[in-house]
Parts: sequence; C-alpha cells; structure tokens
Amino acid sequence: MGRCIKVLFGSLSFIVALIAIGIGYLKIDEVFRQKFFAKFKNIVSNINDPAMMNLRCNQLLRHSDVKGHILEIGAGTGINFPCLYNNTNIESYTGLEPNVEMHSYFYNFIQQWDISFGVRLSNNPATNMFHIESNTIDTIIMTLVLCSIPDPLPQQVLLEAHRVLKPGGTFIFFEHVIADSQTDPFIYGLQKTIEPLWVIIGDGCRFKPITNYFDSVKNLYSKVEYEYSDIPMPVFFFKDAVKGKLTK
Ligand SMILES: C[S@@+](CC[C@H](N)C(=O)[O-])C[C@H]1O[C@@H](n2cnc3c(N)ncnc32)[C@H](O)[C@@H]1O
Ligand SMILES: *[C@@H]1O[C@H](CO)[C@@H](O)[C@H](O)[C@H]1NC(C)=O
Repeated sequence: MGRCIKVLFGSLSFIVALIAIGIGYLKIDEVFRQKFFAKFKNIVSNINDPAMMNLRCNQLLRHSDVKGHILEIGAGTGINFPCLYNNTNIESYTGLEPNVEMHSYFYNFIQQWDISFGVRLSNNPATNMFHIESNTIDTIIMTLVLCSIPDPLPQQVLLEAHRVLKPGGTFIFFEHVIADSQTDPFIYGLQKTIEPLWVIIGDGCRFKPITNYFDSVKNLYSKVEYEYSDIPMPVFFFKDAVKGKLTK
C-alpha cells in the first residue's frame, strides 16, 4: 500500500515537473509557442463537433449573410471554411493569421474542396491592415480572436475593420467574454486565478469584458448589435460568449 502511494506520488510529481518544464518553455520560446499553439488548435478545432459547427455555419456564417469580398481576422487552421467553401455569394477570401505555423494546416485543410473564389492568407495582424484598401471589404468575420489580442489593441482592430469595410458592409463576430462577477462569482474568480497560466497555454488569451470594445464603437459604426451566447464546448470555465454584428 505504502509502496503504491509512493509510486503514485512519484509519477504525479514527474508529470507535474514535465508540465512545469513545458510551460516554462512555452513562456520563453516564441517559435516553439507558435508551433505548439498551431498544433493544439489543429487538434481542438474539430469539424466533427456538431454543436460548434452548427453555431459557426447556421448561426454566424449563413450564406445569405456572408457575401462579396470576405476578410477573416485570425483565420487559424481554417475552421470556418466548412461554412464558406460552397457559398456562391463569396467573391474572394482574405485571411489574416499572424501565426505562420498555422498556415500549412490552413492550406492542407481547405484543399479538400474545389473552391471557386480566390483564397489568400496573410501573416499581417489585424491591428494594422495597411495592405487592404479602405472601403473594399463586404463582410468581415472573426471568431474567438480578441481574447488573444493584448489591450488596448482590440480597439485598434475595430477601427481598422471600419476603415476597410465598404459603407453598409458588416463585421460578424463570435467572441469569448469573462464571466459576470455578480451572477457567476465562482467562475469569475476561477478565471482570474488561472489567467496567468491560461495566457501561456492559450496563446495570449485573457478573460476580458470584450463587450466594452463593441460598446466603444457605437458612434463609429452605424449599427452595433450583439447578444450573449454559450460556447458549446465542454470546458465549464469557458462558456460565456457574445455573438453579434457591426454595420458600417
Ligand atoms: C483562439 S484562435 C481562434 C482561431 C479560429 N478563428 C477559431 O474560431 O477557432 C485565435 C487566433 O487569432 C490569431 N491572432 C492573434 N493575434 C492576432 C492579430 N493581431 N490579428 C489577427 N489574428 C490574430 C491567433 O494567431 C490565432 O490563430
Ligand atoms: C454546403 O455544404 C454543406 C456541407 O458542408 C451543406 O450542408 C450545404 O447544404 C451546402 N450548401 C450549398 C448551398 O450547397
């Protein structure tokens, strides 16, 4: 019995040590971090997850709402493509993905379809879209990205998005938000507690009151709409989201 416990504790400490070394490595080495996150994203962005894909394709990225010249912010591994590839309203697609380690996953993933519009992937961040002319984009899409963009830069993203959109163009988003400290104090506290670790393993993702950004552009966009929504993933402290639309 004593021996069993010893072995158990021994293996446990070994695993904890490995995790600690891994996290230390992730914190120090930028390239390793990007590679790790690309690999991780590729595993967890599961197109066979019906609830998440239903949300993406049937609630956010309906063919009637996504049209013309498309810009995707934080394209990742291309997980939104099952909702886009056969959308005949799309004229072109430009994805922004600063983590170049994601690019090969993206291209490998989308090559399964015969896509009739031009697809371009750029490693520019959305904070400065100097390579995209003003008033040229019909629809911007962005899912689960702003938590990884450090403050106050999400503000900058919404300003740049406004610049590149055509008048009347729309910006469709789905973003994770921090839990409400009043109605959900336990989850809120847990998020605050694990954030230092979450930032490292989640590629810079922080728990933030994301709606503040959308509220702050109410005078810039002609319409700002959003509603609270659940993230249909089995991570109990990663549940609160907003889905919505900005109209230029
Ligand atoms: C959590 S992933 C989400 C990927 C995908 N959109 C999805 O729905 O699963 C966040 C992505 O945003 C990208 N990203 C981080 N900062 C960015 C920035 N400034 N501009 C554009 N993309 C960014 C990251 O590299 C990462 O691929
Ligand atoms: C597009 O493909 C999806 C499956 O990936 C399918 O459910 C949908 O009906 C297709 N839409 C059109 C317009 O062909």
